[in-house]
Amino acid sequence: MTGVDNNQRAVFFGPEGDTSWSLRRLSQGIPDYQHHDIDIRDRGGILRLIEAERPAVIVHTAAQPSHDRAAAIPFDDFDTNATGTLNLLEAARRWAPEAPFIHMSTNKVYGDRPNQLALVENETRWDFADPEYQRGIPETLSIDQSLHSLFGASKVASDVMVQEYGRYFGMPTCALRGGCLTGPNHSGVELHGFLSYLIRCNLTGKEYTVFGYKAKQVRDNIHSEDVARFMLAFARNPRCGEVYNLGGGRDNSCSMLEAFALAAEVSGRQQVWTYKEKNRTGDHICYYSDLSKMKAHYPDWSITKSLKQTVLEIAESWSSRLHAAQGQ
Ligand SMILES: NC(=O)c1ccc[n+]([C@@H]2O[C@H](COP(=O)([O-])OP(=O)(O)OC[C@H]3O[C@@H](n4cnc5c(N)ncnc54)[C@H](O)[C@@H]3O)[C@@H](O)[C@H]2O)c1
Repeated sequence: MTGVDNNQRAVFFGPEGDTSWSLRRLSQGIPDYQHHDIDIRDRGGILRLIEAERPAVIVHTAAQPSHDRAAAIPFDDFDTNATGTLNLLEAARRWAPEAPFIHMSTNKVYGDRPNQLALVENETRWDFADPEYQRGIPETLSIDQSLHSLFGASKVASDVMVQEYGRYFGMPTCALRGGCLTGPNHSGVELHGFLSYLIRCNLTGKEYTVFGYKAKQVRDNIHSEDVARFMLAFARNPRCGEVYNLGGGRDNSCSMLEAFALAAEVSGRQQVWTYKEKNRTGDHICYYSDLSKMKAHYPDWSITKSLKQTVLEIAESWSSRLHAAQGQ
């Protein structure tokens, strides 16, 4: 197994985004793991790597993943998300055209279009008013003519390019439009990875800031293992140029208020939080994925990790990581 990561997350987000601890875990835990510290913007480096490796499957998850950060570093954002993806796709077309190419896209490709849907306000969350969206947002929602943020726009570019290599060249590609992907190994920071960061704040007593929507904005959470299980299902039985909305669906969704309650239930500590009236630009008020298409194409796949289980695992992981850091 070969991995590519240049720890750019530490450059994007500072020391708290450092992922080298995860690399150490991979290197120690997977005997044949080979790591390459290549920047996916390095076209020559990526072409040479794929030519040498001729991988059987390519899973592309490297990205600049934050809206707010993208506005500060637009060149780095676009070069990483759009051009980096093109480098990988073209390398795959030249040297591994039969390899299933699985790209992590994002639900932000829909921009703020979900905010134009009619909503109802419940006691702890917003929800879709129209029965058509009772199961969540389907892949048929338009990605056009809405506010995306620069990050959303660079991810649209890569999402469409991944589809194009599938449709134009007949390659087995898919773009997974992720909701909130998380799990025990996430290095959540304020600008990205809300559930991981929220639980870290809960455990350390740090104040968590909510931006707008009465703290009732709804997030679509999926455990990384369920993400990986879907990738495996696609790799075993790939299709060309597909898109899927990959989230936890309605059952694994939660609002901020509900996340605070769940974190408190798991840790026994009340969340310390503060509220700012102004919402983050383009932030979804309510988003959860309609999983019907994924289940129809891959009937053996389903969500196996509940939201509570996910929160428990994140809390355990942070406890041991924070404990280890104190001991250093
Ligand atoms: N976590 C989420 O909630 C979420 C939601 C929707 C979509 N996604 C998408 O899933 C993917 C993974 O997200 P994540 O949360 O694991 O993010 P992450 O920041 O934890 O992981 C991305 C990794 O890519 C690496 N990287 C960044 N730029 C690179 C470059 N130029 N060359 C080589 N490596 C580079 C980073 O060091 C980091 O380890 C991204 O494409 C993201 O847009 C994530």
